[in-house]
Amino acid sequence: MAIERTLSIIKPDAIKRNLTGAIITLIENSDLHIVAQKRIRLTKEQAKTFYAFHKDRPFFDELVDFMLSSPVVVQVLEGESAISVYRNLMGDTDPTRAADGTIRKVFAKSIEENSVHGSDSAIAARVEIAQFFSDNEIVG
Ligand code: CDP
Ligand code: MG
Repeated sequence: MAIERTLSIIKPDAIKRNLTGAIITLIENSDLHIVAQKRIRLTKEQAKTFYAFHKDRPFFDELVDFMLSSPVVVQVLEGESAISVYRNLMGDTDPTRAADGTIRKVFAKSIEENSVHGSDSAIAARVEIAQFFSDNEIVG
């Protein structure tokens, strides 16, 4: 067990439906602390870099367009086992398979428009946090 940091993104479907605060409330009701946060509009390059792992998947172009369809809120979350704690709070990628009470079960519209992103490993968290935040923007 260790204190970790993870990258969260509140995705366009949630931003467009004014769910930023509702999602932040679920995060703050868990043991996670928001140690950095900003609202930004991704560039196409940023979105493609962020999801480069999925570049050969059939949904890639649509996913990039979705991530550009409105601003997003990017956050760094900190806490004990933050990476897995946040993945559990988010729920399954497919909201029809997500557990009750998870962010995706409560808010997601579809497997694509699924309201939130969370890093899936320590390495991913380090790379994803560095894509959006400099060290002096993270205040623990
Ligand atoms: O976000 P998560 O790590 O749970 O899932 P992923 O498998 O890494 O996929 C990244 C994102 O691609 C998902 O969150 C969806 O927004 C999108 N996706 C999609 O549009 N269609 C799929 N069949 C799978 C994922
Ligand atoms: Mg993923």
